[in-house]
Amino acid sequence: MKVRSLAQEDLDDVLAIERASFADPWSEDLFAQELGREDRIWLVAEDGTGVVGYAGVMITGSEADLMDIAVARERRRRGIARSLLWGVARKAAERGVQRLTLEVRPSNVEALGLYSSCGFDQVGRRAGYYPETREDALIWRSRPLAPVLAAMDAAARGEDVVLAIETSCDETAVSVMRGGREELASVVASQVDFHARFGGVVPEIASRKHAEAIVAVADEALAKAGVGAGDVHGIAVTQGPGLVGALVVGIAYAKGLALAQDLPLVGVNHLEGHIYAARLLDPDLDPPLVALLVSGGHTMLAHVPEWGRYEVLGRTLDDAVGEAFDKVAKLLGLGYPGGPVISRLAAEGDPSAIPFPRAMIRSGNLDVSLSGLKTAVIQHVEGRRAAGAELAVADIAASFQAAVIDVQVAKALQAAREHRVSAVVLAGGVAANTALRDALRDALAEHDIRLSVPPFGLCTDNASMIAAVAHDHLKVGRVLGLTADAMPNMRLGSRAGEAGHI
Ligand code: KG4
Ligand code: ZN
Repeated sequence: MKVRSLAQEDLDDVLAIERASFADPWSEDLFAQELGREDRIWLVAEDGTGVVGYAGVMITGSEADLMDIAVARERRRRGIARSLLWGVARKAAERGVQRLTLEVRPSNVEALGLYSSCGFDQVGRRAGYYPETREDALIWRSRPLAPVLAAMDAAARGEDVVLAIETSCDETAVSVMRGGREELASVVASQVDFHARFGGVVPEIASRKHAEAIVAVADEALAKAGVGAGDVHGIAVTQGPGLVGALVVGIAYAKGLALAQDLPLVGVNHLEGHIYAARLLDPDLDPPLVALLVSGGHTMLAHVPEWGRYEVLGRTLDDAVGEAFDKVAKLLGLGYPGGPVISRLAAEGDPSAIPFPRAMIRSGNLDVSLSGLKTAVIQHVEGRRAAGAELAVADIAASFQAAVIDVQVAKALQAAREHRVSAVVLAGGVAANTALRDALRDALAEHDIRLSVPPFGLCTDNASMIAAVAHDHLKVGRVLGLTADAMPNMRLGSRAGEAGHI
């Protein structure tokens, strides 16, 4: 796909797309009058089949107004509109334009999705602006163009320096990363000690501790990386999913930095971050692949046909795997978090001592359920306690862990075979579990499928995985405006403002 200037002979193609896209299309005359005007920039996108989209701006001094942008219906959702938008922005910036503005109908959700993921903010509304329908016009304005264009260029060269912030749960983490791979610094301040006495993460405490720690953690990361704020090309932050009060601390701090330094702000999906963690030390890892994401808050299997695209294949119907580890540890009086201590004890126990259920292992689909297993463990423990018998804690831990692993391995293998992928990524905090890693690696190896697992420090929450995703976003100019907000229920495969996008 190539973006170039609009020429007279493109007008027929452009008009055809215009008429198919809008109820009140521009006329041929209007387009003809645009050509050759000094204060206009018009570009078309062209692929093997011809012209597939176009965009035009009117320069009005230090701002330019985006007048029209459209992509042929069958070519949408491939980033063509985004390339056109940044194409006209680049040409406008070369002529001294600092920001783009535009009017858009509130009903045009595709366009709104595009603009909000290119860093535009709504700055006003004109009542009854569109004459035929009396619909209001929303006025949107971009952030300063030059820093975004500079970051996009740096990312294309693999030289972008990103400061990434992660505060979705109980880790305050900041990383500085170059080119999406080279970790210049990674600082993780865990709050786990403050939550341990409550047996789980207390949201209110989490937000307060993030607010207390964030400045020092960011300063430490910059100092360790040996870069000044002026060397950074972009600020990345986890936008969701997670605890809303925890997310907003990171987002507010990221917005402050982005505003103060005039830097692009990138919003990252935490779950996508976990998957990208596997890429950091495994450069040969390439889609298509299947990702098994197991953490304290999430358990899902996803097909990844290419980086940035996700099809969720199955998920837990109740508890997340990490959550089940934490609950069983609590029951056994082992403290919080449960994963590390259960896995340590399991290594000394007999995994076949107690036949805990393997729920849904042969259900045919890729969903899992962990609440039945949790109940079985509770019943076993209560039965032993009622009988006044000793608890064989190591055997319980080993048998519980084996039941979890059997199901996770069976589902991941099924997903990998159904989608004929040659690689599986194991990600999320529970990927730190060595027994799970080993069992999954062995099962996949029998089918010539390789397993990629991040190193231990990158399995649990960190900001390097957020920076890795941000690099890919910067390459294509996927940035946020300063009115963007936390998305506590953000789904894998969804992104800010993307109800749909052109
Ligand atoms: O990804 P993460 O750091 O935070 C979330 O996004 O949830 O995952 C934390 C979860 C906790 O539930 C913890 O018990 C679990 O990961 N975990 C483990 C192990 N290490 C951490 N679970 C099983 N085995 C481990 N070795
Ligand atoms: Zn996580």
